[in-house]
Amino acid sequence: MDIDRRLPLLGQLSPRQFMRRHWQKTPCLIRQAVPGVRSPIERNALFELAGRDDVESRIVAQAGERWTLRHGPFKRRQIPPRSRPGWTLLVQGLDLHVPAARSLLDAFRFLPEARMDDLMISYASDGGGVGPHLDSYDVFLLQVSGRRRWRVGPVRDASLVPDMPVKLLANLHPTEEWLLEPGDMLYLPPRWGHDGVAVGDDCMTCSIGFRTPTPTELARDVLQRLTDALEAPGDEPHYRDPAGAATATPGLIPQALQHFAQKAVVQALNDANSLACALGETLTEPKSIVWFDGGGTLGQGQGVRLDARTRMMYDTHHVFINGESFRASGRDARLMRALADERMLAARAVAQLGGDAFELLADWVEAGWIHGTDD
Ligand code: SIN
Ligand code: CO
Repeated sequence: MDIDRRLPLLGQLSPRQFMRRHWQKTPCLIRQAVPGVRSPIERNALFELAGRDDVESRIVAQAGERWTLRHGPFKRRQIPPRSRPGWTLLVQGLDLHVPAARSLLDAFRFLPEARMDDLMISYASDGGGVGPHLDSYDVFLLQVSGRRRWRVGPVRDASLVPDMPVKLLANLHPTEEWLLEPGDMLYLPPRWGHDGVAVGDDCMTCSIGFRTPTPTELARDVLQRLTDALEAPGDEPHYRDPAGAATATPGLIPQALQHFAQKAVVQALNDANSLACALGETLTEPKSIVWFDGGGTLGQGQGVRLDARTRMMYDTHHVFINGESFRASGRDARLMRALADERMLAARAVAQLGGDAFELLADWVEAGWIHGTDD
């Protein structure tokens, strides 16, 4: 993607300008970001999707002061009638199941894959919404059908309305109010208060959300992988204490053993290569709800494209795909990186891969992570 080309998607800013001016800083309303937009999924198909157990969905409804939250999967008759006001159905990870949603997400690939989370879609009846709240992540809210009124403001007081099934800001003081029509889009940095209410029925909004892990979340995942990958060298010296003296307090842990443990842990963490591998594997790990349909074969002369569910990234020395890491260098690394960046590799490029790298692609086709194409 040319990051210096002005885009309607970003209100005629280039990705570079958008990132400098708005990203993580200020909200940005973009009228007709996607002119003539069509919802990536029809209403009835969405209701059907919400019935699947490999799809994360929820229904939030409001009646006066009372809010309810139910989690899917939903049978068709569990979805309220469209004529009933004040409810909304939210379906997470639409990009995993619907190619048109994956294509919409691809328009945002001026941002690192490592930051992307998913595309959520909501369907609301008149007056429906999830209430005033803040999110800890960046989000682009694209109106794809019907109209929604957004009230937006910085959050000075993050206290919540007590005893609610959904997190509702008790004191949102909006500084802006906008009515979004199909094609309009709103970018919100993390922790900006917002409240979107459907105006009329058939209101559908796509949320393109980004990951903002906390240090603890990231450390937990990375440490888990590092631990799993920890291998003892054959000649590793055991703990020794030839200067150990007799003790009258046998319950006390010797300080030397504490130091030994500390050194061991620091040493294990200090391996930059293992850390980089663990991070890449963590970032590309598919959500637990994701399944791949394997069994394909890669024919000679074919190109490849990533399955919509596949996460692929790379760093200087490795290529990561769906929670696995591979060392890569030279021309194979260059081609694998192109596959991660473009999510496809033309037949011409696949033909240049070395034997091992081609075998790897064939394995990934077999696993359903990528698919052979005839272009
Ligand atoms: C919605 O689509 O109704 C909610 C999106 C959000 O506020 O993050
Ligand atoms: Co939100």
